[in-house]
Amino acid sequence: MCGIVGILGNSSAVPRMMDSLKRLEYRGYDSAGVATVAGGSLDRRRAPGKLSALGDVLASNPLEGNSGIGHTRWATHGEPTINNAHPHMTERVAIVHNGIIENFKALKDELKAAGINFEGDTDTEVVARLMTRYLDDGLPPRAAFQETLGRLEGAFALCVLVAGEDNLMFGAREGSPLVIGLGDGENYLGSDAMALAGLSNQLIYMEEGDWVELTRDQYQIYSAANEPVDRTVSFSQVAATMIDKGNHRHFMQKEIYEQPTVVAQALGRYLDPIGGVVKLPDLSFNLAAVPKITLVACGTSFYAAQVARYWIEQIARVPVDVDIASEFRYRDPVYADGGLAIFISQSGETMDTLSALRHAKAAGQHIASIVNVTGSTMARESDLVMPIHAGPEVGVASTKAFTCQLAVLAAFTIKLASAKGEIDDTQVADYVAELEHAPALMAKILNADQQIETIAQDIAGARDILFVGRGIYYPIAMEGALKLKEISYIHAEGYAAGELKHGPIALIDENVPVIGIAPKGGLSEKTVSNLQEIMARKGKVVLFSDDEVPPADMYAHVAMPTAGDLISPILYALPVQLLAYYAAVEKGTDVDMPRNLAKSVTVE
Ligand code: F6R
Repeated sequence: MCGIVGILGNSSAVPRMMDSLKRLEYRGYDSAGVATVAGGSLDRRRAPGKLSALGDVLASNPLEGNSGIGHTRWATHGEPTINNAHPHMTERVAIVHNGIIENFKALKDELKAAGINFEGDTDTEVVARLMTRYLDDGLPPRAAFQETLGRLEGAFALCVLVAGEDNLMFGAREGSPLVIGLGDGENYLGSDAMALAGLSNQLIYMEEGDWVELTRDQYQIYSAANEPVDRTVSFSQVAATMIDKGNHRHFMQKEIYEQPTVVAQALGRYLDPIGGVVKLPDLSFNLAAVPKITLVACGTSFYAAQVARYWIEQIARVPVDVDIASEFRYRDPVYADGGLAIFISQSGETMDTLSALRHAKAAGQHIASIVNVTGSTMARESDLVMPIHAGPEVGVASTKAFTCQLAVLAAFTIKLASAKGEIDDTQVADYVAELEHAPALMAKILNADQQIETIAQDIAGARDILFVGRGIYYPIAMEGALKLKEISYIHAEGYAAGELKHGPIALIDENVPVIGIAPKGGLSEKTVSNLQEIMARKGKVVLFSDDEVPPADMYAHVAMPTAGDLISPILYALPVQLLAYYAAVEKGTDVDMPRNLAKSVTVE
């Protein structure tokens, strides 16, 4: 949420910052801005709306300087106006910020009482005015920054330029991620590896409470206790070219269609098809002794957790709790001694999930995370990290991360079931073979996307759409509804099919399309009966199923390949993603940057 970049370079900073902000725009697109220091003077350009608006401002009013900071905003405090856009600047400092300063009101009152005026409503402006006050009091820049940090409460990543200092930048991390990039006679700061992809592949992930003083040739990191500390330099594998739409119209489209490849990639890290076994990273605890599993996540990752609950309980026979991260710690959960808590997050930075992780860790649970970003905070705070290897996901609506999460969770389930003695080696090998088959079937579904595109065009005018499924397909129904509402803005809900008659069926008439997810076998007959009840009330039913003889009178039937219960949920994720994507394209919405959203939600 909110993208930050800082460059202490040897060539014009603005074009390089704009390049970086383009890769960061998925983190927020309410406004954007850049500031530079050149010949000791600070200057800035800002614009509400997308980055392209800032590009227009810079085209007519360029900004010089080799040192700069840039920002894309997802609004928390204050509307997305120009005055609230970052960088926030006084005559002495320019600041960009990601996160929330929780005590900003008290600080603002204090500064106002001292006669200091504010131009906007953001919490960030308070930081700029506070640091300015310390500089005005005669403190040198480092001490002024340190004093300022000491006054702030909340979650933040900050990047600061100081007037009169062309070769100086400060950064701080408390709750929101910040990464240092090392260059050749240049140094950088960024919100994540993507920010720095075109600039550096030598990264230092700052730890909680760390702050840093950078020049072009040097950097010094300090801990929360203001002690100089060393942090590990890691090598980033995120290349700027990976963050490219290629021939696709949208990142989401690219990410949907690359799923067979990335799921195969993910499975390749966990399965040994020749030996017919699952490989997990080394464990610091005994999987066989785990009495209970707690799965915690948000949004799409939460639906992956819900699918996994069915697998883990049915195949490994281990009890599972599944929680939405923002609710988890507030319900005061009862943990089992020696339990394993697994946190699922594409970004590995989602604040709600991270807070839940810390809650479970403090309670003595074994901590595992399933993340896409391996340098993320969740990964660094876990006992066991299971990366999903999906590659950078840029579309705000998660697609390939979901199917890769499922692939990893399926592999984990097999390992757990085997460790628990619930399945023997032959069954393990059978499951491994089934999973290995998933990418080919996914490709088959994506190759037959034309019918889904046509259906999406037909239903894009609906006001409400329901998705229904039973058992393990119920979370897929909810994921379908989430995907559709977030990018097409059509109101959609996912229901357990059997629940419709307990209320929601009142919504059904000829204007409400209902998407049924019902692979043959298991509970499909029951789901189809529920769909018949909808058709009897003139509901327009679209059925995704491998049943060769679907009920008559349906509006549409999309034929799916037949597969086992371990990979079917992964396969059925694809048509619901395609439906949402093509409905959004038909409606002309901004598919990759839907309104009000941002990727990587680093506020609570
Ligand atoms: C929906 C979507 C969100 C995320 C959620 C969690 O398409 O992308 O619901 O799944 O914000 O994000 P991560 O997985 O990064 O924790």
